[in-house]
Amino acid sequence: MHQGSDSWWTTAVGYQVYIRSFADSDGDGVGDLRGITEHLGYLELIGIQVVWITPFYRSPMADAGYDVSDPREVDPAFGTLQDFDELIAEAHGRGLKVIVDVVPNHTSEQHRWFRDALPTAPGSPERARYLFRDGAGDGGDAPPNNWASVFGGPAWHRVPGPDGAPGQWYLHIFAPEQPDLDWTNAEVADDLHATLRFWLDRGADGFRIDVAHGMAKPPGLPDAPEDSAAAFDQVQAAADSAAADSAAADHAAAGSDAEPGHGVVPSTVDEDPRFDDDGVHEIHRGIRKVVDEYPDAVTVGEVWVSEPERFAAYLRPDELHQAFDFSLIESEFTAAALQQAIEKTLTSAASVGASPVWTLSNHDVARPVTRFGGGERGLLRARALLLLELALPGSVYLYNGEELGLPDVEVPDDRLQDPTWERSGHTERGRDAIRLPMPWEGQEPPFGFSSGPSTWLPSPQEYAPLTVERQLDDPHSTLNLVRAAIELRAEHPAFSGSTVSWYGAPEGCFAFRRDPGGLAGVLNAGDGPVPLPPGEILLTSTPLVDGLLPVDSSALFLASAPTD
Ligand code: NOJ
Repeated sequence: MHQGSDSWWTTAVGYQVYIRSFADSDGDGVGDLRGITEHLGYLELIGIQVVWITPFYRSPMADAGYDVSDPREVDPAFGTLQDFDELIAEAHGRGLKVIVDVVPNHTSEQHRWFRDALPTAPGSPERARYLFRDGAGDGGDAPPNNWASVFGGPAWHRVPGPDGAPGQWYLHIFAPEQPDLDWTNAEVADDLHATLRFWLDRGADGFRIDVAHGMAKPPGLPDAPEDSAAAFDQVQAAADSAAADSAAADHAAAGSDAEPGHGVVPSTVDEDPRFDDDGVHEIHRGIRKVVDEYPDAVTVGEVWVSEPERFAAYLRPDELHQAFDFSLIESEFTAAALQQAIEKTLTSAASVGASPVWTLSNHDVARPVTRFGGGERGLLRARALLLLELALPGSVYLYNGEELGLPDVEVPDDRLQDPTWERSGHTERGRDAIRLPMPWEGQEPPFGFSSGPSTWLPSPQEYAPLTVERQLDDPHSTLNLVRAAIELRAEHPAFSGSTVSWYGAPEGCFAFRRDPGGLAGVLNAGDGPVPLPPGEILLTSTPLVDGLLPVDSSALFLASAPTD
């Protein structure tokens, strides 16, 4: 590994704080910076080393803060710059690193730049920061190309010209309130670099980079080979039907969990001109130069690119330090699919000497418990995979609530906030069920999340048995499993081996071994309990029964003999 092989981030356990839903310090029903500061002890207790905080910048919140109107100001809903400084000081005092989200692909429509652009004529320097284009067809009435918005509908919105008549269109790969920036304009890069330095100077330890495979667009903005809306729908339908298939088997046991398959699955369609344009790499080289001015700072990209070589290109030594590889998130729960996803991630990171980043959950995809069928079975599977993930070489990011085994819980129509709901004409519910307030303590909603009675999304009664308080007291809880796994990972020398090999496992199972050290992991996704290979058992996701590993369970052990 040449990408900082001994740097802190290559092995860290990270934790994504979805700020709106983590902890509310002032009773307004929305999580905030002080809420995070007040709960850093909890993260320390789990053994977390780095916290990723989702956007807390000034925003009209059309996409829950990913529509940024001032990237160097804190939105009043989340606190103040002083709150941020206090958070950093407190986190660093506890030995925790903090990375913040940056959103370089687009701004809010309320950003000063976009507001300045609207009253100007086509071709103005103000419009040149965005992707304004004349429409196609008679009178420019049709969008300039056939691209679709990830949230549904066309990726173009028409605005009036300076004379008030219908004028040009601007590109928005996400919501219309999120106009895409034109990265061929040097001002755009300069401004992002100023933002990076701003937060690094205030003590941030690095960045999660939003849509890191976006930004660059192919010259001339050509049509997608086939309608990209259709292509996107296929990806989403495939993901939905995978989740539905895995749910079908035991949906009866799923109790009150939401229907699986909601959420926005970002596009991984290869040949999609909206993403992964070759020009993006020059942008990453520019970002890396700035970040390298700060020793030890890290970048972790959100890169929804499925082709391993194209994914690895983002991790070359002068680009991103790390990137989320979503192969495991996209995998169904079968031994073959999971093994293949793990292998793919390991191989593509190794091809450029980078360290892998594992993740099973984030604020954009159905939670693992729900994805794997919901109910008791979904929880067993989520725990099994989480334990194995924590035993793989590289770093791991948990998403708040994953350590509690939270399921998604459907949000009533009149409380839905995700722009997908409106943009899809009320056919896609979006990601709200994934983003509900953290249940901390007590018997009644909002379970200590807020001192106020109402929260930005409902706090579901279904979370009552899953609070942090309840789980800390239960030795078999998911929270205590995660704590034990992270403690083991931090203390046991066998967790340092970087070579992974696979070895024979019973039907429906897979087993790997990490060397040097002989740490081994086995996961049973088959139909019946299986014996474990010889070795010393370190931790299991469910108790063994008569010495056998039950279905939908995993075990970590020290292999007693070399394996082939
Ligand atoms: C990816 C973020 O994770 C998602 O929540 C957001 O909607 C889009 N990027 C647009 O910024």
